[in-house]
Amino acid sequence: MARVVGLACVRCETRYPANHYAQDCPACRPVTRSNLMVAYEDTLRTPRAKPAATAERDLWRYGDLLPVDRSQSVSLGEGGSPLHRLDRLGEELGLLHLFGKDETRNPTWSFKDRLACLAVSSAKAMGAQVIVSSSSGNAGAAAAAYAAKAGLRCVVFTFKGTSGPMLTQMRAYGATVIACDHKDDRWTLMEHAVRHYGWFPTSPFFGPVVGSNPYGIEGYKTLAYEIVEQLDWQVPDWCVLPVCYGDALLGMWRGFEDMLSFGWIDRMPRMVAAETYGSIAAALDDGTDSPPDIAKREDSIAVSINATRGTYQSLDIVRRSNGAAVTTGNDELLRWLDLLARREGLFVEASTAAALAAVDQLRKSGTITRDQLVVTLLTASGLKDPGTAASAQGEVLALPGNIEEAIAMLQNQGIFPA
Ligand SMILES: Cc1ncc(COP(=O)(O)O)c(C=O)c1O
Ligand SMILES: [Zn+2]
Repeated sequence: MARVVGLACVRCETRYPANHYAQDCPACRPVTRSNLMVAYEDTLRTPRAKPAATAERDLWRYGDLLPVDRSQSVSLGEGGSPLHRLDRLGEELGLLHLFGKDETRNPTWSFKDRLACLAVSSAKAMGAQVIVSSSSGNAGAAAAAYAAKAGLRCVVFTFKGTSGPMLTQMRAYGATVIACDHKDDRWTLMEHAVRHYGWFPTSPFFGPVVGSNPYGIEGYKTLAYEIVEQLDWQVPDWCVLPVCYGDALLGMWRGFEDMLSFGWIDRMPRMVAAETYGSIAAALDDGTDSPPDIAKREDSIAVSINATRGTYQSLDIVRRSNGAAVTTGNDELLRWLDLLARREGLFVEASTAAALAAVDQLRKSGTITRDQLVVTLLTASGLKDPGTAASAQGEVLALPGNIEEAIAMLQNQGIFPA
């Protein structure tokens, strides 16, 4: 475990006590709302040896760098996901070194398990009784599973229209799921529960959103550690993530920063936010610290990254890393969802496909060059929202009852040789 000395504002670094996780930074409010992050003793920022070769493969391999002691962890075997070479897609994109970090392999089939694991472990260590999350699906499912493992109650506020499989998944773990008619109602109800009943929020719980629980975000540092170790201590030129509130963007960046100070790597990657409506891109263009609320052009099929307003924490990482924000539309999401499955055998959610759509745009504009090393974060499984993929598939071929007619039909269709 790394020793926590408090929390610090992402923007102005003002320090707050370790139990101020249910806050944004009051000092920054006149300009923008800003999340807090975990601050550690300075020993976390000094050179240290690389982790020894062990059989340990889950994220607790890096337990020394996390804010919860392993003995207090609530764990389901999260992390340690494969980093696939995506050579066939690389060829399509004119890229020699394209990778996909396959987070569909986590216990609840999304990268949110890294966040939920650290958030719920922290909640338990702090004596919380109830976990509360607001979620379109993945964060709620992860919170529900880890709360179940911890023996804590879990309440998830979601919306009408949340994907059926995710709803079923949250409820299967025993969470109380409440569908709000109006999206803003969830903030009012959650904030009430956090302030009055001491419920522990793993997700954002007030608007405008600043990001998720600072302890949970620390779980995403392990994505950076794992990727670099899997690349034999090389640093990607680009990390491309589907982004909603930018928790993973910030968490991964912090992981890279750690490794730079340990002497494990000698440079930082450039970070890309693949978004749906373009809030971060607009803030970059305007030079503001407050990502604007963007009017929707279309209802995005990327249900998990469907926020019209980005966060300061996303904007900051994109700026600091000299990265990019890329707006992705439904047609390209469906195209890359399809290509990832057909060419690489990886079936992901439409939101996840935004990462590949962003690489495509940056490759076409020449921002990413052919020989650069690009890692995409494949955030969640296609089985979380199968209806979206199914909507593009047409009918399954139905055969006539008679076998001769069936063979003739399959020959006519070019499935059997003529
Ligand atoms: C599948 C998927 N991809 C990406 C994201 C974006 O994550 P973040 O809020 O960390 O930017 C989410 C959740 O919000 C998600 O569920
Ligand atoms: Zn601040």
